[in-house]
Amino acid sequence: MLTFRKSLVVALAVLTFFFIFRSHHSSDLGPSFKNAHDMPVPTSLAKPKPGDTKATESAAEAKKKAEKAFATPDQPKPKPKTQISLEELHQRPLKQQLEYQFPYDVEAKFPAYIWQTWKYTPAQGEFSEDFREAEASWTIHHPSFVHEVITDEVAVHLVRHLYASVPEILEAYNALPLPVLKADFFRYLILLARGGIYSDIDTSALKSAADWIPRDVPTNSYGMVVGIEADPDRPDWQKWYSRRIQFCQWTIQSKPGHPVLIDVVANITQTTLSRKAAGTLSKDHEKIIEFTGPALWTDSIFGFFNDPEYFDMSTSKGNITWEHFTGMKAPKKVGDVIILPITSFSPGVKQMGAGEDDDPMAFVKHNFQGTWKPEELRHIGENNVKPKVK
Ligand SMILES: *[C@@H]1O[C@H](CO)[C@@H](O)[C@H](O)[C@H]1NC(C)=O
Ligand SMILES: *[C@@H]1O[C@H](CO)[C@@H](O)[C@H](O)[C@H]1NC(C)=O
Repeated sequence: MLTFRKSLVVALAVLTFFFIFRSHHSSDLGPSFKNAHDMPVPTSLAKPKPGDTKATESAAEAKKKAEKAFATPDQPKPKPKTQISLEELHQRPLKQQLEYQFPYDVEAKFPAYIWQTWKYTPAQGEFSEDFREAEASWTIHHPSFVHEVITDEVAVHLVRHLYASVPEILEAYNALPLPVLKADFFRYLILLARGGIYSDIDTSALKSAADWIPRDVPTNSYGMVVGIEADPDRPDWQKWYSRRIQFCQWTIQSKPGHPVLIDVVANITQTTLSRKAAGTLSKDHEKIIEFTGPALWTDSIFGFFNDPEYFDMSTSKGNITWEHFTGMKAPKKVGDVIILPITSFSPGVKQMGAGEDDDPMAFVKHNFQGTWKPEELRHIGENNVKPKVK
């Protein structure tokens, strides 16, 4: 009980700090939001060549620099142009409310957070030994980051605090009938509000996030990093996966307020509330992939890539589809999103062209084959337990 109360106090202290901090840099629902996305689509990233690092820059210096790029934001943000009342805000469509509450700034640094969720925190005796090494790997590779393992109880308070001014979000979060749905929703909510890295508790960091993206890509040119979960190049792929290219949502890095997160949060909220009203919110696990999981996540990302509100489509040759990402071995950049190849977040799966754990592009290991008890799967989600494609 004491540990729970303690962690709650810490969480609230951190939040209070950011609440105070945030109130100094919220911006209006302005057109500047759109300008941040005014980038060419799509640009393939060159793979870093072995001899690329300047001879004058030691590896330690380069690492320090890169880590600095991921530091907690400390720059003052533009002052709000106009303040609108809460009452007025609540009249607006949900997406606009979220954009107002969590303004996106591609120029900002990636917040130095690692968010994970589990039934227990590592400080509790009940925290499974199976997860200790994996959990520790995140801290080892990111010593300067704030690393939080959020329990169900703390998650409820956190969501209530972060989304106090957007009551529909709270209503939807509370209405979700399964912990696995809440766990899916929570990762999008925490990244939308706070940014940083979300990663499932059964993942291990193989490399620092500072080393995920080639150094020559300026961090103010992208605001989200996603990996490919599945690229099943076979005619019967639909038997195994819900999308031909599926992006994974067990590890996501984002700056706060990213439009993809706005979309996914608004979608889940609206679907949940309409199902609640219709009395059709079911505890059926089957449709989780489409409701809150990787299918919805993948659709939201593609929806963003093809949204004329964010991209100048006049120069593009048709829509961005799975064909742009199949078989890719190096990162790609579409607008302000970097897509990593399957090896990066799924090394060692022995299928779909993924490399091994020691591949230079292997960053996060998802330990599907863990030895935890089935009831613990509730947090990881059925959506991640895939039949293996032979
Ligand atoms: C949510 O996204 C899905 C795509 O996965 C789409 O079919 C559905 O219409 C969206 N729902 C809402 C309420 O926006
Ligand atoms: C391209 O994507 C947009 C938005 O998702 C969609 O409305 C449109 O029909 C798509 N066009 C083609 C040619 O598939």
